[in-house]
Amino acid sequence: MNSNYRLLDTGNEKRLEQIGSFRVVRNAKQAFWRPALSKQEWDSADAVFDGEKWEGSLPECRVHFDKKTFDISLMDGGQLGIFPEQSPNWEWLEKVTASKDHLIINGFAYTGASTIFASTTTNEVTHLDASKTSVKRAKINLGLSGKEENSVRFIVDDVITFLEKEVKRGRRYDGFIFDPPAFGRGAKNKIWKIDRDIPVLIELINQLSDGRPAFILLSAHEPSMDENYLADLIKKLCPANTQIEKGSLIMNCESGRNIENGYFARFAVS
Ligand SMILES: C[S@@+](CC[C@H](N)C(=O)[O-])C[C@H]1O[C@@H](n2cnc3c(N)ncnc32)[C@H](O)[C@@H]1O
Repeated sequence: MNSNYRLLDTGNEKRLEQIGSFRVVRNAKQAFWRPALSKQEWDSADAVFDGEKWEGSLPECRVHFDKKTFDISLMDGGQLGIFPEQSPNWEWLEKVTASKDHLIINGFAYTGASTIFASTTTNEVTHLDASKTSVKRAKINLGLSGKEENSVRFIVDDVITFLEKEVKRGRRYDGFIFDPPAFGRGAKNKIWKIDRDIPVLIELINQLSDGRPAFILLSAHEPSMDENYLADLIKKLCPANTQIEKGSLIMNCESGRNIENGYFARFAVS
């Protein structure tokens, strides 16, 4: 995918990334090896997250993936507003949503990358996240990506609470995108715990699709939930003649020191 995002190097539990001409250093616990690039390269970063706070600054900064554009800023917890390890899933979403009039729901939808890649002029995407700030940025990113005319519903709510309400309202969806964190706080302080709540999420997908989803993309960043675990979860909703694809969310690094940032499982009925 064409992008101005580059993962330059990893090591010493950090990653060195470049967006346009700006460089940032952030945590990458899994990078326990020594970096490949020199200290001088690492020291050239415009902003560094030290595990608690950012040092340095970024001027107005935008990241592009093909024709989609996302605002980047130094956010709490060392986040930038995008998870580039999802880019193979974004490409897949673009393919499976092309020329279809699906009703899609994207939960834990953050700043909207999957929503934007899935959104077309013929479908409707419901973008669901508990964070008002993230949803606001998703709206901005939809506009930056030239898709503001598409049908996207922005919902600030706890994922499980909202899906339960949708079941009661008799709503039905065709496509399901969920990238849950290990732990999260929903609206009204409702707690999300992946090990406890992921089976509930799958059952809600079952009800909201009448057991026949057109596609599911499920990813997770919890080391104990690998691609086989995620594939098993969605298997009961996958028709017999449809194949589940699964794998890890690998970030290819220019220095060769690639990192893994979680796992995914997905299928689409053709
Ligand atoms: C790992 S990020 C998702 C990344 C996103 N899918 C992407 O690729 O850009 C986690 C998101 O889950 C949201 N979240 C956490 N707990 C939640 C809950 N109980 N209900 C709704 N959203 C929640 C957070 O606000 C955050 O935006």
